[in-house]
Amino acid sequence: MNKKLRLLLMGLTVWGYFSMPVVAAGDPDMGEGLAEMCVDCHGVGGDSDDPTAPKLAGQYAAYIVKQIRDFQNGKRSDDMMTDMAMMLETSQDMEDVGAYYQNQGKMKGPGVKLELANKGMDIYINGNPKSGLYGCVNCHGQKGNGLSRSNPFFPVIGGQHKDYLVKQLRDFKSATRTNSPAKMMGAIARKMSDKEIIAVAEYLSGN
Ligand code: HEC
Ligand code: HEC
Repeated sequence: MNKKLRLLLMGLTVWGYFSMPVVAAGDPDMGEGLAEMCVDCHGVGGDSDDPTAPKLAGQYAAYIVKQIRDFQNGKRSDDMMTDMAMMLETSQDMEDVGAYYQNQGKMKGPGVKLELANKGMDIYINGNPKSGLYGCVNCHGQKGNGLSRSNPFFPVIGGQHKDYLVKQLRDFKSATRTNSPAKMMGAIARKMSDKEIIAVAEYLSGN
């Protein structure tokens, strides 16, 4: 791992430590009630079948809470989701809904085009030495399963909708989405060609 990135990751750990909100752990039963507001787009139990609305099943609670906050304060923006985020009024509501989704079985995808997915897997694991792209596996874990619940800053992306993954990577690349810590996903996506984005999304969506 190069020195700059190691510093970045160290910084992220410290950032995470100080920015962790001090609230009681979420209550998944309360969260289940709140999630009724989310079903139309994110599906039952967060298993969305709308390719534009991300799956939330098995996503880390702390990542979900961070995204909801980011939508509320404009660090991340989406025509539909910004309004929805406003419906969760307290930190406890966000923690509860996060705990509910985290408790659902991990998101899973359909079959994929093998040749394209194999190209994507290579990028996912090895990055691209020519452009200096760093392998995704280092932060998002094997198959995009995330690292662990005790390190929830790197979201689960394996089994996510392909269309959603492509949109996020393009949004990071064009700086339409800038809410990742130290803008690290922007730096990564800018090193990717559109072909690489599509291949890696194909691979991830099937996991
Ligand atoms: C009207 C449709 C709609 C409803 C209802 C809705 N969402 Fe969303 N949500 C979206 C869309 C679309 C996105 C993706 C935005 C983008 O492309 O960046 C999203 C994104 C998210 C994300 C970010 C996930 C990620 O992987 O980064 C979270 C968390 C989330 N929604 C939680 C909720 C919760 C909790 C509720 C219920 C209180 C809810 N949403 C209700 C449409 C909706
Ligand atoms: C140095 C660590 C790091 C590396 C390497 C990395 N990511 Fe990320 N990624 C992150 C972080 C941190 C976030 C969360 C951003 C936030 O908090 O909004 C993220 C978010 C994402 C998201 C948005 C997920 C969602 O649900 O909206 C996608 C998609 C993604 N990364 C794909 C990739 C791909 C593909 C690669 C490899 C080409 C990669 N990442 C490499 C750290 C990394």
